[in-house]
Amino acid sequence: MKSASPLPSFGRDMSESSSIPRHIAIIMDGNGRWAKERGKPRISGHRAGAESVRECVEGCKQLGVEFLTLYAFSSENWNRPAAEITALMALLERFLEEKAGELMEQNVRLQAIGHLERLPVRTRRKLDKAIERTSGNTSLTLILALSYGAREEIVEAARSLAADAVAGKIDPAKIDNATFASRLYTAEIPDPDLLIRTSGELRVSNFLLWQISYAEIVIFKKFWPDFHQADLNEAVEEYSRRHRRFGGL
Ligand code: FPP
Repeated sequence: MKSASPLPSFGRDMSESSSIPRHIAIIMDGNGRWAKERGKPRISGHRAGAESVRECVEGCKQLGVEFLTLYAFSSENWNRPAAEITALMALLERFLEEKAGELMEQNVRLQAIGHLERLPVRTRRKLDKAIERTSGNTSLTLILALSYGAREEIVEAARSLAADAVAGKIDPAKIDNATFASRLYTAEIPDPDLLIRTSGELRVSNFLLWQISYAEIVIFKKFWPDFHQADLNEAVEEYSRRHRRFGGL
């Protein structure tokens, strides 16, 4: 485990619910570059990144964040070399095995979004088992975005609404934002309040495109394996300083 840092006080009452985002989403970028800088194989960057995941879950729990969504494997990541995909899946399996007990102790509920049926059978089985085992937990909900792509998610939602319209189950004129959102993978999950991205890139990379409409975005230059609990606290502090207007005054 990496060392924990003290909780930020933000110079205000921490019980003020608006200071703490209810939902944080993270684009964990830069594992490969982190490894390259050290002359190591890419997978060692992913391994170090898994440690940052553990630290982040702990940090969110301590802050009282309710939902944490991590972009762990995008639909585009299937285009990576087979050896890297296999190593990433093995890492995910190990994380699920080792972490399940810890998640139980921490009262963390695990969920996943994405084209989960594309995952290797063994990975899927371990994922389902961990989700099932932690389903009754009531503190933080950790959502892994796996084989996830926001455009695919939106297209699927549109397709399911179109099918219902053709079948006469839904009146197209009555489709509104709420109806559409109810067909997304995240139907039961509030939209992210804060989106964090590491490695300095200013892109959203097909991640939660519908859901981040009003999210505050905080970018870190550092690579994901260098992201620690103090950085999470810094992002939340930055979030708490911003005045969210949702398009109003
Ligand atoms: C981006 O870095 C990261 C990924 C594609 C995978 C994220 C995976 C982890 C953090 C580890 C495993 C996850 C869990 C939940 C245990 P990159 O490879 O695109 O880096 P680069 O842009 O520098 O090449």
